[in-house]
Amino acid sequence: MALFGKNKKAPTPDSIILPVHVGIIMDGNGRWAKKRGLPRKAGHREGAQTFRKITRYCSQIGIKYLTVYAFSTENWKRPEDEVGALMKLFQSYLEEALSDFKDDDIVVRFIGDKSGFSPELQALMEENEQSSKNRDGMVLNIAMNYGSRDEIVRAVKHISADVKSGRLDENSIDEALVSNYLYTAGQPDPDLIIRPSGEYRISNFLLWQSAYTEFVIMNKLWPDFQQSDLDEALQIYSQRNRRYGGV
Ligand code: FPP
Repeated sequence: MALFGKNKKAPTPDSIILPVHVGIIMDGNGRWAKKRGLPRKAGHREGAQTFRKITRYCSQIGIKYLTVYAFSTENWKRPEDEVGALMKLFQSYLEEALSDFKDDDIVVRFIGDKSGFSPELQALMEENEQSSKNRDGMVLNIAMNYGSRDEIVRAVKHISADVKSGRLDENSIDEALVSNYLYTAGQPDPDLIIRPSGEYRISNFLLWQSAYTEFVIMNKLWPDFQQSDLDEALQIYSQRNRRYGGV
């Protein structure tokens, strides 16, 4: 399936309208490994390298917010050894590779329920957030133990607790207020969500925030995803006519 004409001139970041906020569902690691007769964890390792490369590229071309889906609230259902391998990968990333992002001035944030992770991992997440919070480059949200329905349930609980305690007047509840009770409070909604690996699903990712997001599905497995694939997605996005329900 070609989503983008083969004969089209290779897009360059200069010729496109850049989205402010890009979301990426990093999918296809398992299939990448299977195709090579490797264990799934090898696919995740390779996917982590792609994550590193694409994140820095997004920052260098001027994307202001990038949200990547690294581990969902549903991913705990995977076999124990795969979950274990992912936890190890997160641990080593948070210890080493994230310091890479320092050179690019990237602000690292985690969205999701941190309490599901080991105390060591939680401490590393905190450390990364604290040490990067005063940078002024791209904001990188890493969604870990993230599920959008879970995020919305949490927001509803917080809102109702605030109404009950008198901190919040229920008449002031509107869309902007609900947005401010989500993990992404204060950030613009994603303009573009890219899903590699050819799956046409949202998989519980940024459901509230993606009401008017443009989706680009790409037929590439995440570990094979290149900077040129991102350019292609940006080019497709540039050609979309966003109407937000208007005409
Ligand atoms: C989905 O592919 C991918 C994941 C559940 C894990 C994504 C994690 C990484 C890319 C590592 C990133 C590291 C950091 C620190 C953010 P899949 O396993 O569902 O692939 P499949 O659909 O082919 O089986």
